[in-house]
Amino acid sequence: MPSIEVLCVVGARPNFTKIAPIIRAFQRPESRINYQLLHTGQHYDEAMKASFFEQLKIPQPDIDLEVGSASHAVQTAQIMQQFEPVLDRLSPRLILVVGDVNSTIACALVAAKKGIAVAHVEAGLRSFDRDMPEEINRVLTDQLSNLLYTTERQAESNLQREGINGDHIVFVGNVMIDNLCFNLQYATPSEQTLAKGEADWRAKVAEQGFGLLTLHRPSNVDDPVILGRLLTSLADISRDLPLVFPVHPRTQQKIETAGLAPVLADANILCLPPLGYLEILGLMRDAKLVLTDSGGIQEETTALGVPCITLRENTERPITVTHGTNTIVGTDTDLILKTVSDVLHNKGKSGQIPEYWDGCAAERIADRVRSWLDQRLAESA
Ligand code: UD1
Repeated sequence: MPSIEVLCVVGARPNFTKIAPIIRAFQRPESRINYQLLHTGQHYDEAMKASFFEQLKIPQPDIDLEVGSASHAVQTAQIMQQFEPVLDRLSPRLILVVGDVNSTIACALVAAKKGIAVAHVEAGLRSFDRDMPEEINRVLTDQLSNLLYTTERQAESNLQREGINGDHIVFVGNVMIDNLCFNLQYATPSEQTLAKGEADWRAKVAEQGFGLLTLHRPSNVDDPVILGRLLTSLADISRDLPLVFPVHPRTQQKIETAGLAPVLADANILCLPPLGYLEILGLMRDAKLVLTDSGGIQEETTALGVPCITLRENTERPITVTHGTNTIVGTDTDLILKTVSDVLHNKGKSGQIPEYWDGCAAERIADRVRSWLDQRLAESA
């Protein structure tokens, strides 16, 4: 007899925004789901982890593997090694993984080999770009999963093309948007965050408004030439629109090693340490536009109706482009500058809210998980 029914797994920042509404839905009395939460420790800094747990009201994890940072192979291997004895001890009926980070694939692989069922939330998203570590994590996690919960209809065709049985796929909507709907009322007013800027930067914001910038993908920050070109374009943009830039730790390291700090220092860019979710949400809501290479922010800006300019060559979230406010521009300087200018002068795409991005995706997941567990119980009775 399993000691718990569902073991929920998180590891990195974008996982926290997905697990929060799922835990809330599991905690509803009608869900009757006996679960525990495991954190692999992939993200461990106060700014990358603790503030998210607190702000998103995620209960403290029952288990923390504390793996920390390392190369992809070492990080994935360490998670697998430490996850196995936990599974042996708890022997859950199901593990639930979210998103596409190394923690997602590592835990799914261990569970699948032990014959424990895997549920994957945000299944079927594809950028078709195998240079992205996340794309490899997505494809493999979906192949190992027994329950596949999707955020947009295109995901189901992607999965079926890869031979996955349609009976295992359920279109539930987007849990990250559940999280956004729940937290919008608590978002930190942007003025509070912008007050961290110097007086002359704040004066420009008062006149011109501001844009939000995030950048952390290896394809953008690891090569000093690409990073330098991007930062130079962004510095140019900041003359017309002051930017606020919460800097991811890996980006900070790369800027320092490449000697690019002066490019930022000479621009109208307010660099901040990584911010909590409620601060980012307040900034996203009030920004004139957002420049990003994040996956989640493409979706959140679509839900908020704020123009998003994605500094990547592709997206695994095509609905944000076809229905939402997202424009993909890559790292080509002319295209970035032209798109920003279009948004500033013509307001940019207004977009629509995609189907089922309605704040209820996690409840649909909890209902499906409960039925699946009831069926297993009935079979074993
Ligand atoms: C991971 C995810 C990525 C996600 C991103 C969000 C994978 C393959 N990538 O990338 O999909 O968009 O999280 O943030 O899982 N670091 C710290 N403190 C921390 C965590 C990381 O300083 O708490 C630094 C370390 O130097 C580390 C580097 O950031 O080596 C990268 O961290 P890692 O978890 O490997 O990948 P991310 O780039 O954060």
